[in-house]
Amino acid sequence: MAIAKEMQDAINEQINAELYSAYLYLSMSSWFEDQNLSGFSNWMRCQYLEETMHAMKMYNFVNERGGRVTLKPIAGPEVDWEAPDTVFEQVAEHEAHVTALINNLVTIARKLNDYASESFLLWFVDEQVEEEDTADDILTRLQMIKGDNNALYTLDTEMKGRV
Ligand code: FEO
Repeated sequence: MAIAKEMQDAINEQINAELYSAYLYLSMSSWFEDQNLSGFSNWMRCQYLEETMHAMKMYNFVNERGGRVTLKPIAGPEVDWEAPDTVFEQVAEHEAHVTALINNLVTIARKLNDYASESFLLWFVDEQVEEEDTADDILTRLQMIKGDNNALYTLDTEMKGRV
């Protein structure tokens, strides 16, 4: 059964939101690079790739369901932040916002009795638990070490490990 227009349009909006997330994290990656924090920059670059993967998962799903992907302009992300912890404050807030968007998509799928979309979207529900948890964890650590540059560089080295 082909995807309903309402569901298709809502997932198209989410593709835009995921690509915006990718753009935002790439901008954060560039900011960290400029701060000589190449581990954080690497982490953000991985996050950028993960967000493009989220967008492409949705892109493929709409196509598989006989729908049509239509791409919209991606808003420009911020380019400057005060400090590493303010970057991660924004990441945590942004991921909470994305969770609300995903939950809303599930609500639409349920309203339309679109079980295929609901099943597909539940992967993102689980993914958001992880995304929010990781962002909160790094934010807490940055808040704990605020002002301690040695601890910041140790954490930066740890962030280099993400692939
Ligand atoms: Fe695609 Fe970070 O949510």
